[in-house]
Amino acid sequence: MEERKGRRIIMFPLPFTGHFNPMMELAGIFHHRGFSVTILHTSFNFPDPSRHPHFTFRTITHENEGEEDPLSQSETSSGKDLVVLISLLKQCYTEPFRQSLAAEVAGGGTVCCLISDALWGRNTEVVAEEVGVRRMVLRTGGAVSFCAYAAFPLLRDKGYLPIQDSRLDELVTELPPLKVKDLPVIETKEPEELYRVVNDMVEGAKSSSGVIWNSFEDLERLSLMDSRSKLQVPFFPIGPFHKHCNDLPPKTKNKDDDEILTDWLDKEDPQSVVYVSFGSLAAIEEKEFLEIAWGLKNSERPFLWVVRPGMVRGTGWLESLPCGFLENIGHKGKFVKWVNQLEVLAHPAVGAFWTHCGWNSTIESICEGVPMICTPCFSDQHVNARYIVDVWRVGMVLERSKIERKEIENALRIVMMEKGDGLRERSLKLKERADFCLSKDGSSSKYLDELVSHVLSFDS
Ligand code: UDX
Repeated sequence: MEERKGRRIIMFPLPFTGHFNPMMELAGIFHHRGFSVTILHTSFNFPDPSRHPHFTFRTITHENEGEEDPLSQSETSSGKDLVVLISLLKQCYTEPFRQSLAAEVAGGGTVCCLISDALWGRNTEVVAEEVGVRRMVLRTGGAVSFCAYAAFPLLRDKGYLPIQDSRLDELVTELPPLKVKDLPVIETKEPEELYRVVNDMVEGAKSSSGVIWNSFEDLERLSLMDSRSKLQVPFFPIGPFHKHCNDLPPKTKNKDDDEILTDWLDKEDPQSVVYVSFGSLAAIEEKEFLEIAWGLKNSERPFLWVVRPGMVRGTGWLESLPCGFLENIGHKGKFVKWVNQLEVLAHPAVGAFWTHCGWNSTIESICEGVPMICTPCFSDQHVNARYIVDVWRVGMVLERSKIERKEIENALRIVMMEKGDGLRERSLKLKERADFCLSKDGSSSKYLDELVSHVLSFDS
């Protein structure tokens, strides 16, 4: 790994795909600008460094690894209680992170700064201060959801939180157009802990030397400005990250699988395929899985559906499909365990994205001008879905409670048959705005130049 003197950045991602991917994309952007990048990564969910050959990886281990490891207890590691899992990660890794960062800094060469995921919170601030390194944060979600998180104390005071079933469709007048059911909560057995994690994220951003957003001004101008005035720190909406340079690493392990899939997509008509994926964490019930399968089949449209092993509760992969189902579908539909989503969304055959509205999926779809069917599952996904449908108007909602084969057929018909009241045109217009923000005079390019100067101005 070449050492680029005086231009080194240390990054500390949260170890989940939806957080790790954008951090790697950001690392790629800095590398492109002449920085060397060291990734401090938890032993939990440690990635394959060979897929990121430009960066140096260091593993952070914690002292209770092994049989007693609280992080590998099934309830947390299977993602059932994300709040508990995030709290445990913060508890287990703060001290090892301190040692690891100190060793990196003592190891020589000038470290410009640390960039940590906003969800690591204030602990990383304390550590960075002790070690004498400036810290910036990466917020991997959108500004629209950040505003809702920052408003949690107010929302609790006003009685919107905890969410009551009787108020689900009520408008949150302080955060229009959000309704109570859109508030970014996560089901957890420790609701107070959720508020602590969120508060720590917001306070940690306030005490940072700047916040980097995977978003762009034309998409979230008001929410970005609102966050800026709340946080009062330098501010860099430089997204969409993945569109800054073309040398990003592939997101699937198996290139052959990617090629087989591309061959299949190549044979389909333009804008005919429905791409379905619920991201890297969400799980569904077997009943929902079967309704989706029948809905897709009955729609008689080609589809590509990412079913992660274990995503359907109580099953391994596809075994709950009725006998003969796959044979019946033939080449019309494809079930895969993981795809290169960026490539799929960019393929001309893809006509709609049925998504859980994780922020990365949202921004990736916007960048390719693909209309969305929105089925949010938890946290910021509800906020993102509300903005996709009501503000940017590039998608339609299919609520989780309405996952039923007839509803699915209907939603697909609306989106695919252009009865979507200009959905596709608006999606293409929004893509153009993303392209413009990334152009030479666009806001994201301008903020990126400012970000690089900002980082180089730190004299640690
Ligand atoms: C999680 C939360 O669910 C989400 O709400 C939050 O905004 C980020 O963290 P996740 O479920 O991982 O997100 O979804 P998303 O943010 O969309 O990220 C998934 C990433 O995995 C995307 O970059 C997507 O391109 C990638 N992906 C997904 C693939 O490359 N292949 C796949 O088959 C599926």
